[in-house]
Amino acid sequence: MLITIVTIFPDMVEVVKKYGVVAKAVENGLVDIRVVNLRDYTTDRHRTVDDYPYGGGTGMVMKPEPFFRFYESYVERYGKPYVILTSPQGRTFNYEIAEELSKKDNIVILCGRYEGIDERVMEIVDDEISIGDYILTGGELPAMVITDAVVRLVPGVVEKESVERESFHQGLLDHPVYTRPYEFRGKRVPDVLLSGDHERIEIWRRKESIKKTIMKRPDLFVKKQLDEVDKLAIIELFKELMKEC
Ligand SMILES: C[S@@+](CC[C@H](N)C(=O)[O-])C[C@H]1O[C@@H](n2cnc3c(N)ncnc32)[C@H](O)[C@@H]1O
Repeated sequence: MLITIVTIFPDMVEVVKKYGVVAKAVENGLVDIRVVNLRDYTTDRHRTVDDYPYGGGTGMVMKPEPFFRFYESYVERYGKPYVILTSPQGRTFNYEIAEELSKKDNIVILCGRYEGIDERVMEIVDDEISIGDYILTGGELPAMVITDAVVRLVPGVVEKESVERESFHQGLLDHPVYTRPYEFRGKRVPDVLLSGDHERIEIWRRKESIKKTIMKRPDLFVKKQLDEVDKLAIIELFKELMKEC
């Protein structure tokens, strides 16, 4: 998979590929992340990427020409990419969108700045993505968020089992996790996790996932299609609640 991020602040974005799981994925050749300086696609001495808005008003607008120049040279070299514009007006990024994007092999992410990008750039945009209902100063952080979430879903980047267990994958939040020491400040690791009984552990984890989801994200739980393990876990949860009564 090739992800290319187009920005006027390349140094800010370069870090996305330098740490942890994403760095490993790059090192192992599972993804190629490139950062392009939009100013390299300007033609004037000052490498201008913005101009005053037609109709007046405050702030500046990103000019269309550098985006088109970048896009045309990119298509010539790497073929037609799936172009994402980071925008507070886009569809709100979530796990499903990350999964959808992880199946594409050629993605370009455009980072806006100032008051946004000249509307005519929409001609080369396939998708507009927002990372939430608030306004950031630029698209760099959203581009990094999207890249990070997408890369970890590319097959081979993270162990399949970890992905399958994590929050949102099965419509549930992840279960609690523990590591050593066994006892910390008077709190012990639940005994079931030391039992070695994989079936009991699986049902306990699912019960805890269901509990967390009901408490923190009931909106997710109501949409969940229950499977056999969920049903056993719910019985366990009832037993636990009965004991507490
Ligand atoms: C200051 S914002 C422009 C906002 C624009 N005037 C509006 O109200 O829709 C500058 C750039 O930051 C990025 N941006 C800001 N908030 C964002 C968000 N919530 N999600 C994704 N991108 C965002 C976009 O690339 C945007 O073009």
